[in-house]
Amino acid sequence: MVQISLASIFDQYPDRRYIMFGGKGGLGKTTFSAAAAYYLAKKGKRVLVFSVDPQASLSDIFKKDIFGKGATEIMPNLYAQEIDADRRVKEYQQEIRKKILDMYGMSEIPEEIDSYIQAAAAEPAMEESAIFDEVVDIVVKGGYDYYIYDLVPLGHALYYLSMASVYDAWIDKITKLRQQMREYDQAAAVIRRDKELDEDAILNELLYIKERINKSSSILTDKKKTAFFFVVTAEEMIINDTIKAADLFAKFDVPMSGYIVNRVLPEELKQQNIPEYLKNRLEMQSHYLGTINEVFKGQILATVPEMERDITGLPMIEKIAKAMFD
Ligand SMILES: Nc1ncnc2c1ncn2[C@@H]1O[C@H](COP(=O)(O)OP(=O)(O)O)[C@@H](O)[C@H]1O
Ligand SMILES: [Mg+2]
Repeated sequence: MVQISLASIFDQYPDRRYIMFGGKGGLGKTTFSAAAAYYLAKKGKRVLVFSVDPQASLSDIFKKDIFGKGATEIMPNLYAQEIDADRRVKEYQQEIRKKILDMYGMSEIPEEIDSYIQAAAAEPAMEESAIFDEVVDIVVKGGYDYYIYDLVPLGHALYYLSMASVYDAWIDKITKLRQQMREYDQAAAVIRRDKELDEDAILNELLYIKERINKSSSILTDKKKTAFFFVVTAEEMIINDTIKAADLFAKFDVPMSGYIVNRVLPEELKQQNIPEYLKNRLEMQSHYLGTINEVFKGQILATVPEMERDITGLPMIEKIAKAMFD
């Protein structure tokens, strides 16, 4: 029997073009996103790795300031992008101001309205929604063989998914209402031409938004196009959290492709003359690697060692990619 591996998943499922690494903060999601992007780009695929994390660190790992600069070339075929949610929120604000000015024929926004617009922008939901919107833009625009989402920690990723379904239900309702209204309106269309046109414009906008949201949330749950990997380490709490998260993700129909174990200390150390404390760590690690092999049986795609230093710059990224894919 051929052992399943990360490389074999990519070979076997070439249609899975939307790649995500999930897991708690600090486990290696950004590291693996960058390394997978590197591996695929080296194979000649055009790859975009982009960050949906407000505390993005793609700039750090690639040692290049890419924040808010759009898709930036890192090496041939490899592009990276860090979303500037703040700027997007500011653009929203400008849009709202412009709409108000146009609608009421004003030359200036009244102060209390402007302070309201500013307060609304401070809502955390606004940032999430700005990021969501930009992701939709990226995905709808196309142009790459692979899209690698450098995800936020688990809770947020779930929020992101649930938000998509909430949005969807909400827009569905409004769209239906609008459609009904239009039918009623048709009877009186002769005397209300202008109004009917307005309603059409609103309905079209809603349908447009709905299509965009459907597109991005359906990608997240599309088993044909999406591969979702969980990053886990050999620690009790991390394993427990991962089991819980995997259950939740299954409820949202996220297509899970497997698990990658990160930061494994070399077992050979045991044979060497090592301090007691390191011995203990290795004992603990062996124990929890056993647990991981039991609970995630047949779904472990790679085991990546703890490197001698943190992972920044292409040579270190290449090392991680080798450990993940070879
Ligand atoms: N196998 C590894 N060996 C050494 N350092 C690692 C390894 N994997 C991740 N790191 C380091 O751990 C830190 C957190 O990794 P990161 O990928 O940013 O996690 P996340 O995106 O899940 O929050 C980074 O400093 C990274 O360089
Ligand atoms: Mg990260």
